[in-house]
Amino acid sequence: MIHVIDASNAPRYEAQLQEHFFIRHRIYVGERKWQALERPDGREIDQFDNEDAIYLLALEGSRVVGGTRLVPTLRPHLMSEVFPYLANVRGLQRGPDIVEWTRIFAIPERRGASHTVLHSVLAGMLEYCLQNEITAITVVMETWWMPRFLELGWDVVPLGLPAMIDGMSCVGAMIRVTEAAWRNTLAFKGLTAPVLHQAASTVPQGQRGILHG
Ligand code: COA
Repeated sequence: MIHVIDASNAPRYEAQLQEHFFIRHRIYVGERKWQALERPDGREIDQFDNEDAIYLLALEGSRVVGGTRLVPTLRPHLMSEVFPYLANVRGLQRGPDIVEWTRIFAIPERRGASHTVLHSVLAGMLEYCLQNEITAITVVMETWWMPRFLELGWDVVPLGLPAMIDGMSCVGAMIRVTEAAWRNTLAFKGLTAPVLHQAASTVPQGQRGILHG
């Protein structure tokens, strides 16, 4: 299940949040070699890991096996503060109904075609957005994601031209949140809805039929 963690319930998930910062360091600094993110305490934490951040963590029991982060676009976020030029064609997309998505990962033992962690996190992200009337997700991503999102039936709009960043081809994009995208993502790996832990208690009245239908 995917657990939604924000400022309101972070104390309850303190151990998992800390574990996820250590995992992020092992993956992004150790594996991906994004040396700018290196920290002496072995936790990968940046300026957007603040009280506005929303974490979606894939837990097996209490163990973190995957996750991602959402940040409100009305607050400072990666594209607005660090990579605004990646939105040089359509401009930064900001609003109460738009979140920025960063830091998706699956631990190495849960990757590949035989695993469902990646798609559970992706479906959980769309489910969270549908529940919270978020209509779009912006992202600074490596361009290799693009065909994978299109394969999932996602509606992805580039916001600017691709650019090389530290040897990686990257692009700013906006993903429209639709029920179809959520359903396709679930179906891609035969996942059953809801994927969010305790989703039933947080689903707005109008969405209940969708999420449990
Ligand atoms: N560069 C290019 N392609 C990559 C890639 C990379 N760094 N990482 C994954 N891919 C490709 C895989 O080769 C695979 O391609 P295929 O469909 O042609 O086989 C595809 O993306 C997805 O692979 P899949 O097995 O479905 O997903 P996964 O279980 O490996 O999970 C990640 C994908 C990205 C979550 C996982 O590989 C991971 O945690 N990587 C480290 C963290 C990271 O780089 N996150 C993205 C930036 S925030």
